[in-house]
Formats: sequence, C-alpha cells, structure tokens
Amino acid sequence: MLLEIFNFLHFLGLAFGLGGATIAAIISRKAEKDAEIGKAFMKIIPSVSKLIWLGLILLIISGIGITLLIQWPINRQILLVKHILVFWIVFFGVVIGVKMRKMQTLSPVNSKGKISMGFLRTRKQIKVFSIINLILWYLVTLLSAFV
Ligand code: HEM
Repeated sequence: MLLEIFNFLHFLGLAFGLGGATIAAIISRKAEKDAEIGKAFMKIIPSVSKLIWLGLILLIISGIGITLLIQWPINRQILLVKHILVFWIVFFGVVIGVKMRKMQTLSPVNSKGKISMGFLRTRKQIKVFSIINLILWYLVTLLSAFV
C-alpha cells in the first residue's frame, strides 16, 4: 500500500515538475516577443516556479520511499546516473531562483525604464540555465523508463 502511495506521489511530482518546466519554457518564449506578456510572465512565474519545486520535492521523497520499499530488482547504475542528473536540476534551479531575484531588482520597472547591461546579461543567463534544466527534466524522465 505504501509503495503504491509513493508511486502515485512520484507520478504526481512528475506531472507538476515536468509540466511546470515545460509551461515555463513556453510562456518565456512568448514573453521574449511581447512586452505585455513579459510583464504578465514576471507575475505568474513565481507560482509556476513553486509548482516545479513542489514536484521536485515530491519526486525526491517518493523516489527514496520507492527505492527502500521496492520488491523487484532495479538497475542501480541507471538510478545513480538519475540521481546525478536530479542533483544538477536542483543546482540549476537554485541558480535560476537567485538570478530571477537579481533580474527583478535590475528590472527597467525599478530603474526608471532604463534597460541595463546587467539586466540583459542576467536575463540571458536565466534563459540558458532554464533550457539546460528543461533538457535535464526530459532526460531524467527518459532514463527512468530504463531503471
Ligand atoms: C526529476 C526527478 C525525477 C523524475 C522526473 C523521475 C521520474 C520517474 C519516472 C517517470 C519513473 C517511472 C515510473 C514509475 O515506475 O513510477 C520513475 C521511477 C523510479 N524512480 Fe524516479 N524520478 C525522479 C527522481 C527520483 C529520485 C530522486 C529517486 C530516488 C531517490 C527516484 C527513484 C525511482 C525509482 C526507484 C523508480 C523505479 C520504480 C519501478 O521500477 O517501479 N526517482 N521515476
């Protein structure tokens, strides 16, 4: 019964995390092309970001639960590779969070409409790290099919 609950939570975490990361990527692409969406994006992204973190926490807790309770053999090597990739998702997630906060303070809204070099650089970095993280999310999901 407990294993089934962890399994369910693993899928729920997957839906929140992978879904959230994909939605964030789609809206951020639209935000680049449209300033109005850009403003709306800055308002909605904290909620999407929380959804992704909730997904990750659910995945990690349930993942540990599954590993402890599982009755059938699993591929420990693939699981180890998966753990390494999950570590990088968390790492880049923290970096993106810090840069997001920095971008907000550098935002043209807070600096009399002027777009600074720092703002553009930070925005570019967030974009690169977000793409890396999105790829990592899909890689971990793909890899999990072989555990
Ligand atoms: C981004 C993080 C993660 C994603 C996207 C992810 C995704 C998945 C998916 C799609 C499956 C296959 C479905 C299933 O059998 O339930 C799976 C299985 C599994 N995951 Fe994860 N997972 C993540 C993190 C973790 C972590 C951190 C652990 C361990 C600490 C873990 C342990 C496992 C195990 C042991 C299985 C095998 C279950 C089985 O063979 O029935 N996962 N994961």
